[in-house]
Amino acid sequence: MILSIESSCDDSAIAITELKTKKLLFHKKISQELEHSVYGGVVPELAARLHAEALPKILEECRPYFDKLKAVAVTSTPGLAVTLVEGVTMAKAISVALDIPLIGVNHLVGHIYSLFIEKQTQFPCTVLLVSGGHTQVMQVNSLTDIDTVAKSMDDSFGESFDKVAKMMGLGYPGGPLIQELAKDGDRLKHNFTIPLSQSPLIAFSYSGLKNAVRLAVLDSKEEDYKDIAASFEHIATMHLTQKLKKYFKKVPPKTFAIVGGASANLYLRSKIEELLKPYDAKLLLSELKYCSDNAAMIGRVAVEMYEKKMFSALESLSSSARSSL
Ligand code: KG4
Ligand code: ZN
Repeated sequence: MILSIESSCDDSAIAITELKTKKLLFHKKISQELEHSVYGGVVPELAARLHAEALPKILEECRPYFDKLKAVAVTSTPGLAVTLVEGVTMAKAISVALDIPLIGVNHLVGHIYSLFIEKQTQFPCTVLLVSGGHTQVMQVNSLTDIDTVAKSMDDSFGESFDKVAKMMGLGYPGGPLIQELAKDGDRLKHNFTIPLSQSPLIAFSYSGLKNAVRLAVLDSKEEDYKDIAASFEHIATMHLTQKLKKYFKKVPPKTFAIVGGASANLYLRSKIEELLKPYDAKLLLSELKYCSDNAAMIGRVAVEMYEKKMFSALESLSSSARSSL
């Protein structure tokens, strides 16, 4: 079995995955949404302190598995530097204490493998990753052959939902709150400009849209927020589908996936389904509980890395806020 740890942002999670069957035997996550909600976003130092409390508690529950562990895996990049180090330090301690190899997992690869928890992988696959930290399109051929073909030049899709929710005083995380508010709103009420629509670039940008929404919020009463939320969600999604359409002209999709916390967005899911229809492409989605950060996805990657003996030396594994994917 492999024990895997996730602490890249505001979720403390540990999983136990069986090597032979890839079966998830244990998974527990303690989220910090409530604690960060009053600030309208994640406060890194507070998050680190909460990980330091939560991770040992979850680890205690894993004690019965200790003598069966063959490796310990941990998210080592990308994420918040001060929170990543909590998981990495714990993983190193376990590696030394139990004398088992250490596996450093890239969080973004973890999101890709959230599609395959307790399942075989389906590659090649075009993957749209939409989370709080990232918006990117990747062509995934295997664990070690991942090509990023488009990414955001500024804010991410999920982050823009968080910031719009903050402007409206709704709380954190903004994604589910904006989705709920947008349900009864008029999607065409505010004619926000679709970012980069005149640009031939296949890239994303959310900072301009965010500022347009800020002006609309300042100019509106609270009862109009639902229309702003609906129009924002519509344009934020149109931006993704417009750029994907452009990319599909070059590389038609056969198997397409949406992963990351914001892949839970129902409007996005329905628009991507529409977009894929003419291509007769297969759409892969993670189970809702594995869209947001979790340790099950890290464990799933670690199983593949264990098979390939992709271990990290104790001294060389460091947590890094930025990743090259
Ligand atoms: O993957 P994740 O849990 O953490 C990162 O790796 O960043 O993603 C969290 C992000 C947050 O920005 C949150 O607002 C967004 O995912 N999110 C959503 C929805 N649910 C979560 N965004 C839009 N619509 C949703 N339903
Ligand atoms: Zn994530």
